[in-house]
Amino acid sequence: MRIDVITLFPDIFQGYLSESMLKRAIERGVVEIHLHNLRDWAPDKHKTVDDPPYGGGPGMILRVDRMVPCVEDVQAKCPDPGHLVMLTPQGRRLNQAIVEELARFPRLVLLCGRYEGFDERVRLILRPDEISIGDYVLNGGEVAAMVVIDAVVRLVPGFLGDEASNREESFSGPDRLLEYPQYTRPREYRGFRVPEVLLSGNHQAVAQWRLQKRIERTRRRRAELLGGGWRSIWAEESGGG
Ligand code: ADE
Repeated sequence: MRIDVITLFPDIFQGYLSESMLKRAIERGVVEIHLHNLRDWAPDKHKTVDDPPYGGGPGMILRVDRMVPCVEDVQAKCPDPGHLVMLTPQGRRLNQAIVEELARFPRLVLLCGRYEGFDERVRLILRPDEISIGDYVLNGGEVAAMVVIDAVVRLVPGFLGDEASNREESFSGPDRLLEYPQYTRPREYRGFRVPEVLLSGNHQAVAQWRLQKRIERTRRRRAELLGGGWRSIWAEESGGG
């Protein structure tokens, strides 16, 4: 997968891209990440990319005549223009289903805003897929872009090595339940013991226990994730009606 990021602050990404999982995936050629500085598309001496809003108001707005040529040039770097994503608190809120959708594109172009946002014509002309990472306002789209990259690359074949680890993760798989509790050595610590069933070697019993814990945990913590179907399974599991 190829990901292009358009930002005023490419250096913000350097640490993240040069550590651990991402670093290894880039070295192995599983993902390619290209950073582009929007300022390089400002033709004037002062490299201006923003201006005050017409009609007044606080802050500065990213100029459409900087943003659009930049995106068009970046898209033209490959035969596939890629799926254009704008990071903005006004977008659809990111979840694992959207991450799966994004991971199916061979190329993503991520557009990071700063200041008070984008000139509206950027949206009207480029028609990006607008994504928010949550209902709060960040100083810019860079951290949001890193969140998108982090979640998406895990789904790229070859990134994790063990693709099965994705299916049992929280929000993943067809049911989208939270993950079950996990334990490793020691068997007992400060009086807390590993549940007997996990030591039993009975794979069927382990699978049943894990499903039950996933439903129980999701019901307690994130009941809105449970569809009607799971409520009835839960009722059966807990012996109720
Ligand atoms: N830019 C500023 N806040 C944001 C958010 N919550 N999600 C995505 N991009 C943003």
